[in-house]
Amino acid sequence: MKISASILATQLTALANTVPNFKKEGIDLVHMDVMDGNFVPQISFGEAVNKEIKAMTQIPLDVHLMVEKPENHVHKYYELNPYCITFHAETTRFAIRLAQEIKKNGIKVGVSLNPGTPVSVLETLLPYIDLVLIMTVEPGFYGQKFVDGGMEKIKKVKSLISNYPIELEVDGGVNDTNIQELAKAGVDICVVGAGLFKTGDPSENGIRLKGLAKA
Ligand code: DX5
Ligand code: ZN
Repeated sequence: MKISASILATQLTALANTVPNFKKEGIDLVHMDVMDGNFVPQISFGEAVNKEIKAMTQIPLDVHLMVEKPENHVHKYYELNPYCITFHAETTRFAIRLAQEIKKNGIKVGVSLNPGTPVSVLETLLPYIDLVLIMTVEPGFYGQKFVDGGMEKIKKVKSLISNYPIELEVDGGVNDTNIQELAKAGVDICVVGAGLFKTGDPSENGIRLKGLAKA
């Protein structure tokens, strides 16, 4: 199990003290929740903060765009050479063209679905994408509870992508109590916010969560 640390869940004005201490043993990716105050209620941060974070760590960025019309914004992230750029299926009418464009720039493409969006939306996109990000909370805030039915949806997606080289990532409400079941369901990457940053050291928490996932 890879852990993608959602820095939204820590004090944003103290990132210069937090991020350089991330250890790759516990944190595989730095999850960047870009929010536009339009698709989701909150405005978080954009490409400038992504660039500063990149300069603070060797750990690759996992860019999660929660913005309307991502086709107008993706190009700002190419120079950061992130692990992947994920956009929401709900935010664009041109998902295939957008996926092709991201790929053309040598970056993995992720597509994310809100909890209320049916899995069938993915069917026509499978040949074009490298990653599916299933939201297990409504996007917008950290520290929420894993939605009812989230685990069943994850299993459905896992079987849908089984013939494709697509990674499965889960975002929202992941913690000590569910990471083992997520690993058993075949999840490759878990985004963790509150579960890493609420108490203790985030890298140590990541190591513990990975251990639980393996158990
Ligand atoms: C929610 C974000 C998540 C969130 C995860 O919109 O996409 O990445 O910060 O935080 P937790 O793990 O606390 O649910
Ligand atoms: Zn996220």
